[in-house]
Amino acid sequence: MTTILGIETSCDETAAAIVTGAKEIRANIVLSQLAEHAAYGGVVPEIAARAHMEHVERVIAKALATAQCSFADLDAIAVTGGPGLIGGVIVGVMTAKAIASVHNKPFIAVNHLEGHALTVRLTSDIEFPYLLLLVSGGHCQFLIAHGVGNYTILGGTVDDALGEAFDKVAKMLGLPQPGGPHVEKMAKDGDENAFAFPIPMKGREGCDLSFSGLKTAVRLAAPGAKPEDICASFQRTACDALIDRTKNAIAMFRKHYPTGKDFVLAGGVAANQKIRERLTALLAEHDMRLTAPPTALCTDNAAMIAWAGIERYRLGLTDSLDFEPRARWPL
Ligand code: KG4
Ligand code: ZN
Repeated sequence: MTTILGIETSCDETAAAIVTGAKEIRANIVLSQLAEHAAYGGVVPEIAARAHMEHVERVIAKALATAQCSFADLDAIAVTGGPGLIGGVIVGVMTAKAIASVHNKPFIAVNHLEGHALTVRLTSDIEFPYLLLLVSGGHCQFLIAHGVGNYTILGGTVDDALGEAFDKVAKMLGLPQPGGPHVEKMAKDGDENAFAFPIPMKGREGCDLSFSGLKTAVRLAAPGAKPEDICASFQRTACDALIDRTKNAIAMFRKHYPTGKDFVLAGGVAANQKIRERLTALLAEHDMRLTAPPTALCTDNAAMIAWAGIERYRLGLTDSLDFEPRARWPL
């Protein structure tokens, strides 16, 4: 059975996983650097790169031990080749190249976004094509996944990513980072209609998104307001915006695939239950169904990189050891 080691170091988690072609996650180790960055209110690239250096070998050793396998048992080494914080990406790529070269195994450079895009095929039986909404701290876009390595970008944020907006709202309210889960929790006790924030991009053509105006509206409203109401109203407005944009994305997808039924939600923000609920209801009206990976595989992890590695390996898509780490790498 094809067995691949995946390594992820593009942001602030050092992660290694071992996944098989039978969709078995034999190990999935994620070491979060949250504590290292907490004092700075965000991820500090230099600190992240150093922490990856310090931890990556141990995390890989732990993945191998958990899966009870050795380098010799692997069919290939897959690693996030970008996009991401370049210092961290370099650490992961150099480590993967060293393992591949010493053990004479194929090397696969995975686009982090493709990792998020394909995770759902590891955790559910989803076939191509599907409409994908990728929403994380760094990315926010609608894509058509036609096949491995074959994506059409339909639209995306023109400024902040949605996860970033959640994080900034949390910061304004003095909540811990990453802020998404804290804002969601606090929103449960608030009135989602307390504030009528403007719904970004509503009614516009296409499916681009924008969240910086909403963020500013929240900043102006926050002083003196009940934080629960701020969180609930912000989250409701973000959902309204997603719903409006998703309607257009569905129409664009249906032009390519008139009978396409699958909508996949991926990336860290996919953990948000309110967003899932609202999208599920909308999709039902369009005879589409929502599938999202389980929360632990929505946020950054290496199982998604190992799985993308499996998908690419099957198609003979391996890379040369000359591959250069990429800070930017559009799908
Ligand atoms: O995919 P991810 O782990 O990292 C990136 O590639 O960015 O996503 C992390 C982002 C953070 O901005 C975090 O606040 C957000 O996902 N997030 C959430 C929730 N859980 C995580 N946003 C809203 N609601 C949540 N429950
Ligand atoms: Zn990510």
